[in-house]
Amino acid sequence: MTPTRRLRRGKRARVRPTRWTAVAPASTSNLGPGFDCLGLALRLPLKVSATRIPSGFSIRRLGEGSDLAIDPHHDKVLGAFRHLLRLAGGPVPTVALTIRSDIPLARGLGSSAAAIVAGLTLANHWIGGRYTREEIFREAIRLEGHPDNVAAAIFGGLTLSMPRLDGSVEALPLPVPRGLAITLVVPAIRVSTEKARALLPASVPLRSAAGNTARAMALTHALSTRRFELLAEALRDVYHVPYRARLIPGFDRVVEAGRRAGAYGVTISGSGPTLLAFHAPRFGSRIGGAMVRAFARQRVKARAIPGRVATKGAHASTLL
Ligand code: HSE
Repeated sequence: MTPTRRLRRGKRARVRPTRWTAVAPASTSNLGPGFDCLGLALRLPLKVSATRIPSGFSIRRLGEGSDLAIDPHHDKVLGAFRHLLRLAGGPVPTVALTIRSDIPLARGLGSSAAAIVAGLTLANHWIGGRYTREEIFREAIRLEGHPDNVAAAIFGGLTLSMPRLDGSVEALPLPVPRGLAITLVVPAIRVSTEKARALLPASVPLRSAAGNTARAMALTHALSTRRFELLAEALRDVYHVPYRARLIPGFDRVVEAGRRAGAYGVTISGSGPTLLAFHAPRFGSRIGGAMVRAFARQRVKARAIPGRVATKGAHASTLL
């Protein structure tokens, strides 16, 4: 029966059941040569809210991904929620989840990481915040398989994930420069991260690796000293971009269109197919428009969205 409370005039009003909520941001990762270690949180949220139900689990999806069939056995938010509660050794409550996402799926914008981090954050809130953010990070890496997007989703801003000798990973915050804007150009094609990882070489020649290291360090230098003209070179990568570019129709032309329209540099966001352009603030619509038109010439629909940095990572609250 729906809970009710008596109003002053004797009418009964529905009482909302307690609702636990968690929010996690989207992220772009790699940023060219920072494969599997650089992540930048973006202000496109995934929100989950949970209410207790007598038995079972139910999921309702709104926004991005709501067109896909719901499979509670493979849902990442629910999977992460249950994972943490099992780890805590407590009972796993039966819940109804409502997931509202602004993060396009399978586009290289960290939708999977946001789902996992939202589920873990919700569960941690449910048990009174027993785990630290570092412990949540450890579990998120376990579920996601790589640290860059989950680090951004948990800690916000720009993070560098550094693997330690003991197998743990430490997330180091890096400064996010002011005066640097981002445009995301999202084509209407989906690329699974699994497929995009399967394309990558098992090893790279030492010389190429040394070049990538130098450019990754040049990238952090360019961002911290605001030498944005270095970005064109500093975003160049040989680990993953050349292989994944093949999954993006007209990749070279779209990048070129962005550069001609004034972008400092353009690269693949995460495992793609979204492209990420760094530029001076006033050039967003010009660069986005040029890149969308370049995709259109390949008969690929695309949309340009501003990539605002989320300085705050995942968080949770209770609504009574
Ligand atoms: N670093 C990961 C990759 C990000 O490039 O495969 C995927 O979301």
